[in-house]
Amino acid sequence: MSIQITIIGSQDRRLEELVRSSGLRPTVASAVDLLTLTHPGAIQPDVLIMDVRHHGQVPPALGALKRQHPTTSVILVALELTPALMLDAMRAGVNECVGEPLTPDNVGRAISMVVAQRAAPVGGKVFAFVGAKGGVGTTTLAVNVATALARGGQDTLFIDMHPAYGDAAVLLGVEPRFSLVDALDNTHRLDLSFFSGLTAHSDTGVALLASSDQPSTAPIDMHRIRLLLDFAVRNYRYTLLDVPRANPAMLDALEAATNIFVVTNQELASVSGANRVAAALSRRYTREKASLLVSRFDKGADIGADDIEQTVHCPLRFTFPSDYRRALQALNNGRPFVLDSSSKLSAAVLAFSKELSGEAFQEPSPALSGALRARFGALRWMTS
Ligand SMILES: Nc1ncnc2c1ncn2[C@@H]1O[C@H](COP(=O)(O)OP(=O)(O)OP(=O)(O)O)[C@@H](O)[C@H]1O
Ligand SMILES: [Mg+2]
Repeated sequence: MSIQITIIGSQDRRLEELVRSSGLRPTVASAVDLLTLTHPGAIQPDVLIMDVRHHGQVPPALGALKRQHPTTSVILVALELTPALMLDAMRAGVNECVGEPLTPDNVGRAISMVVAQRAAPVGGKVFAFVGAKGGVGTTTLAVNVATALARGGQDTLFIDMHPAYGDAAVLLGVEPRFSLVDALDNTHRLDLSFFSGLTAHSDTGVALLASSDQPSTAPIDMHRIRLLLDFAVRNYRYTLLDVPRANPAMLDALEAATNIFVVTNQELASVSGANRVAAALSRRYTREKASLLVSRFDKGADIGADDIEQTVHCPLRFTFPSDYRRALQALNNGRPFVLDSSSKLSAAVLAFSKELSGEAFQEPSPALSGALRARFGALRWMTS
């Protein structure tokens, strides 16, 4: 079900337009409808926006509504947020208050706050992967962890959060028709059947919301990212995010993430990149949320695991060995290596995924023969 939002008490269309710009399609109702909503059997919207700008008082019916329907989220919109009004709003059980001047930002923020506070039926886990630097192996790791989690039989969604030209589709061997941009353009109709049509599916069992193959024309709206993540948490057991580090606003929209993993290598430039990303995350989230993963780990390297942990001031959660041949082969075949190989790299990804889920995984199945030949042929055909 998409989020149902009702506005009551508005005398102009500005609030409705601001709600629309935050990615939802509100219903506008009259003050009489507020009384109807207070009835015990009345079907509730997920979010009720009560506009009191013209009289500046919290209607008594609002308190009655919250007593009957405590899970209905209420946002109060007022001309001025005076202490007396705030106190009345608090007593009535209002969840968020917004005062003039109304902007896309304060209205969008209030909506994403109440949406995030709602109880999640699935209560899925969200694992975000951010590279400390380009090419450290972030997408490879995220795609293989997603595949391992999906093999455990759980609904698993992968969101390639790069606004354009992300690589996850290539690694998962799928050709998506829709992208993140389509999901963000349609946050008002995010229900499972619509959303499933936007995702691409491969034999990995992972549903991919891919990155667009067109350059993005408009900046990504972070309120819509929050609505998308809220939808993911409610509908998928696991959601994995491949997060572009070059977009600081994206790092700020990860409240829904259970863990944020900063992926690094043992080279100075990526350790210093990890430092920057971890510092940005520590300003925004609690300490437990962020941890480090080292890809292409080499025990004998000059920069050791302890050096990285101490420099970045962030706990090191897991290391993954280097296996360029296997990683490259998997990339070219569009088939994550955890499905096929019994390498040390696969074993490390499986162990890490098991730790994340606490559940058992199916044994990997045999390799597909000729997969690379078929894909390479298709690529040559497309480019000729
Ligand atoms: N554990 C590994 N051992 C060796 N090579 C690896 C390993 N993991 C990934 N690679 C290789 O490193 C290269 C970059 O991997 P990947 O695309 O996953 O990195 P990335 O951090 O997502 O890059 P980008 O910043 O471009 O998104 C690929 O050629 C991949 O095959
Ligand atoms: Mg990548």
